[in-house]
Amino acid sequence: MNSSIQDILSRANQEETLQRPDVIQLLDISDPNELQALFKTAYKIKKQNVGKVVYFRGLIEISNLCQKDCLYCGIRKSNHDVNRFRLSVQEIVDAAVWAHKNQYGSLVLQGGEIQGDEHADYITRVLERIHQATRNELAITLSLGEQSREVLGRWRLAGAHRYLLRLETSREDLYRQFHPDDHLWQNRLDCLADLRAENYQVGTGVMIGLPGQSTSDLADDLLYIRDLDVDMIGMGPFIPHSDTPMAHHLPNFNKNKQLDLGLKMLACARLLLPNANMAATTALQALSDTGRELGLQAGGNIVMPNVTDPKHRRAYQLYDGKPSLDENSEQSRIGLQRRIESIGETVGYGLWGNSPRFDQRGV
Ligand code: 5AD
Repeated sequence: MNSSIQDILSRANQEETLQRPDVIQLLDISDPNELQALFKTAYKIKKQNVGKVVYFRGLIEISNLCQKDCLYCGIRKSNHDVNRFRLSVQEIVDAAVWAHKNQYGSLVLQGGEIQGDEHADYITRVLERIHQATRNELAITLSLGEQSREVLGRWRLAGAHRYLLRLETSREDLYRQFHPDDHLWQNRLDCLADLRAENYQVGTGVMIGLPGQSTSDLADDLLYIRDLDVDMIGMGPFIPHSDTPMAHHLPNFNKNKQLDLGLKMLACARLLLPNANMAATTALQALSDTGRELGLQAGGNIVMPNVTDPKHRRAYQLYDGKPSLDENSEQSRIGLQRRIESIGETVGYGLWGNSPRFDQRGV
C-alpha cells in the first residue's frame, strides 16, 4: 500500500484533522487494498462514535408534485411522463402508524418542493395527526425542499424535529449548470441557516459523480459540509434519469465506479465528522444489490426503508433503477434486518437515534 495513504489513515485514527490534499488522495484511491483499508478505518471510527446500531427511518414519499426543474431529477416540473400524486393525510398517517407499530423510532416525510400556504397547512396537519396517532413517540424528519423561515418555524412547532436539504454541490458554478437560472445556490445556504436557527437537527449532502465534478470538488464538498457543522449527512451517487436533460451527460457512466466513489465519500465523511448520522442511501442500492450494506461498512449508520404504499413508488423515481418498487413495507423491513444482521450489526428498534453531534451540541 502507498505509504502516504497509510499515513493519512493512521493520522485519521489518531483523530488528527485531515486536510484538503489528504481527502483528495483518499478519494483518488483505486487500489483495492487501499480501498479496503479506507473502509476499515472509517468503520472503526464509526464504531467508536456511533456504534454498530443501524437506525431505521421509515421513508414516506408523500408527493411528487414539484415546482422546481432541476435538470437531473426525474420528478422535475417539466417531466410530463410522471403521474403526479399527493397522498392524503390519512394515507400518510396509516404509513406512520405502521412504522410505529413496527418499532421504527423515526420517519422521513419526503416530497417535491411546493411553496405556499395550502401546502404548508397540509404538512402541518400531517405532523399533528401523526403525533396524535403515535403518542408523540416518533422523531420526524422533513425533506421538502426550500421553505421560508416562517413555514419552517411552523412545522417545527407542529412537531418536526429534523430536516434534510441537500446542498447538491459546494461549487456554485456547477450548481448553476444543473439548475435553471431562478434556482439559487445561495437560497439553499440561507435555508440551511434558517433550519439551524429554528433548532432543527440539520442534514445536508451532495450528489456524487456529477458530470464535470472532480475529486478535488468532492473533497471541497466534504470540507464545506464539515464547516457547516451539520448533524446528519445524506448523499448519494448521481444516477441519470432517462426522461431528464441529463440522461446522457455521463457517457462513461459506470455503475461500479460510481458506487465506489459514493462509498469513498461516505468513508471520508465519517473521518471528517465522526459523530454525525450518515445514511447509506437508496441510490447506493440502485447501483448494487448490496449497496446499502457496503455503505454501512464504509461508515453509514442510517437506512431509510420505504414505508410508502408500493402503488405510488413507480411515480416517485428521481433516477433510473430505483430498487424495491414492488416490495411492501414488511418485506423490506425483514430483508433489511437480515442484511444488517449478516454484517454483525443490529437495528435500533424503538429508538429515535438522534445524531450524537446534535445531542453534544447542547442546545
Ligand atoms: N441521481 C441521484 N440523486 C438524485 N437526486 C435527484 N435526482 C437525482 C439523480 N438523478 C437527489 C438530489 C435531491 C434528492 C432528494 O435526490 O440530491 O436533493
